[in-house]
Amino acid sequence: MKFPTPSETTNPASIEENRLHLEHLVSAEALTPAEMNAGSDAVSGLTQNPKSLPPKYFYDDRGSNLFELICQLPEYYLTRTETAILQGCAQAIAHLTGPCEIVELGSGSSTKTRILLDAYSKLGYPLHYLPIDISPTILESSACQLLADYPSLQIHGLVSTYELALAKISPSPLPTRMICFLGSTLGNLNAQECDLFFSQIVAALQPGEYFLLGIDLDKSREILEPAYDDSQGVTAAFNLNMLRHLNRRYEGNFDLAQFEHWAFYNQDQCQIEMHLKSKKAQTVQLKSLNLTVEFAAGETIRSEISRKFNLDTVEKELSQRGLKPVQVWTDPNQWFGLMLCQMSDVTSILAAPSGDVDG
Ligand code: AVJ
Repeated sequence: MKFPTPSETTNPASIEENRLHLEHLVSAEALTPAEMNAGSDAVSGLTQNPKSLPPKYFYDDRGSNLFELICQLPEYYLTRTETAILQGCAQAIAHLTGPCEIVELGSGSSTKTRILLDAYSKLGYPLHYLPIDISPTILESSACQLLADYPSLQIHGLVSTYELALAKISPSPLPTRMICFLGSTLGNLNAQECDLFFSQIVAALQPGEYFLLGIDLDKSREILEPAYDDSQGVTAAFNLNMLRHLNRRYEGNFDLAQFEHWAFYNQDQCQIEMHLKSKKAQTVQLKSLNLTVEFAAGETIRSEISRKFNLDTVEKELSQRGLKPVQVWTDPNQWFGLMLCQMSDVTSILAAPSGDVDG
């Protein structure tokens, strides 16, 4: 898909059309063939007890913008910490991988990606970027800004869920590829979903290719809880926006004034939980899903888990799947971890004695 960019009008020579290719695997307006079962996740979540919704419903245009504001909050240490780690290790990553296509799951504003692009560009490597995001507007606008700022960059963007995109990405034009999953978005997946996700990553990678994973590490409740319940109420607005998004997408009638934001650290599960709490007994309908949902006063919808990890545990899990940790970086407080893994040769996994594989 081609669309005009602001820079094309000001400096037509700076952006060649063939540097940008955007594909929509999911869409906000109409269902794509790949989305036959759209909304079934919302139906199953809202008809279960306790109720829950998938966090991907946070990220309509408004939600993506609210998330960018969250990243700048004083309480939300994650983005700032990961950015500082990346600034310190991007050059090392570029040296380790060599010329490499950068694939990013949940690319959003692509702010952190610029640190990687700068490092690869400093070494004179060709720049190929494959951003994947559920929100078309943020994907398009970040892609345009990147093209304007990196004259040799080629972008192939996918508006997609992670699952669809991972099943779809084709062989890299460059010698290798690095799939980046930053910002601790992995924390949104429960243990079972995480398992499935890792196997999708493994299936998408050729032997020798890389996986760069950013994870938030376990720490005290005093630091964690304010990060998800900030004093300005941005996180509350982000949480409530999910209901607004469902209203629009599925012809719903959630009254946002009748729900409130609730976030706490569940220490047993090592996860922040965000909920939307019903202020009163009420009935909500989602017309296009043919769904009526009853709420008791005080009943909640869990809208997100944000798991907090232990570096050693994650390293082990990845290496058991053939994703060998190459190097791990963290900040002085050990609040956040960044891990570069390399996909081993399938034959070497099969050949390894089971003791080596199972740790
Ligand atoms: C983008 C999933 C990493 O879990 O910290 C921020 C989303 N939720 N504030 C996180 C989020 C509430 C964020 N992730």
